[in-house]
Amino acid sequence: MTTIETVGIIGAGTMGNGIAQACASSGLRVVMVDINEAAVQKGVATIAGSLDRLIKKEKITTADKDATLARIQGSTHYDDLKAAQLVIEAATENLELKIKILRQLDGLLPAETLIATNTSSISITQLAAVTSRADRFIGMHFFNPVPMMALVEIIRGLQTSDTTHDAVRNMALALGKTPITVKNAPGFVVNRILVPMINEAFFVLAEGLATPEDIDAGMKLGCNHPIGPLALADMIGLDVCLAVMNVYFAEFNDSKYRPCPLLKEMVAAGFLGRKSGRGVYAY
Ligand SMILES: NC(=O)c1ccc[n+]([C@@H]2O[C@H](COP(=O)([O-])OP(=O)(O)OC[C@H]3O[C@@H](n4cnc5c(N)ncnc54)[C@H](O)[C@@H]3O)[C@@H](O)[C@H]2O)c1
Repeated sequence: MTTIETVGIIGAGTMGNGIAQACASSGLRVVMVDINEAAVQKGVATIAGSLDRLIKKEKITTADKDATLARIQGSTHYDDLKAAQLVIEAATENLELKIKILRQLDGLLPAETLIATNTSSISITQLAAVTSRADRFIGMHFFNPVPMMALVEIIRGLQTSDTTHDAVRNMALALGKTPITVKNAPGFVVNRILVPMINEAFFVLAEGLATPEDIDAGMKLGCNHPIGPLALADMIGLDVCLAVMNVYFAEFNDSKYRPCPLLKEMVAAGFLGRKSGRGVYAY
């Protein structure tokens, strides 16, 4: 089975730099590639800032920080990824862009190199099919912020081989994460359950069954959720929640995924949550 010692990462944004930090902190070498030097440097600076916060909390030492950063090579050249046994694609969520990147990687990387994608919403089976190594292609869905969140959903496309699955699962365990194995389907496991729950909270609100504060208190105190569904919707972005429901509605052809009309109204009004200063709550 492939032993992963060097990980390539496409994208130095929120998820890419988080994955890079998690890998390098666990002793793996990392090559993190973005489209320009500014994006790469921003990613590296974010990692340095995150490690500084861990030093302040006395979770790591300054020597740990230096060693972690020394294992990360920032680059704007895809050629530098040839040293990796696994390349994780964490670029912007856009189907055409991901297809372009995956074709480029597939043409460049040695045949045995595994490729994973961190996509939240695109079919792993579909992305695997654009490469000539569909059996060596898999989904690795990390959660934000990566260094803090324990879960990785490992998503098997229809074509993914057992050896690819096992290598990637072992690597996730080596990062100190808890992997769960999921078959490819829209939303995988976590978002498939989470986003319809948030959508239902909007129906409950729209029906006037309770105030937003009471709906959130109900789910926090009754289900031990750390945050209520409406406050969570404001954090995620109401537009993102609506887009996800629209994908489920279209993909499953099932009316149980009907987006709540109130959610649609609020998005149309520009009440997108924290990022727009107003969602269910005012900020
Ligand atoms: N943000 C989250 O909470 C979250 C959680 C799980 C999964 N994801 C998924 O992770 C992926 C990345 O999301 P993000 O939030 O980090 O986005 P982001 O916008 O923060 O970062 C994306 C990065 O990709 C870079 N990029 C674009 N085209 C590129 C190319 N051709 N080559 C190399 N780099 C390129 C961009 O310059 C940018 O730095 C998406 O597929 C998203 O769905 C995001």
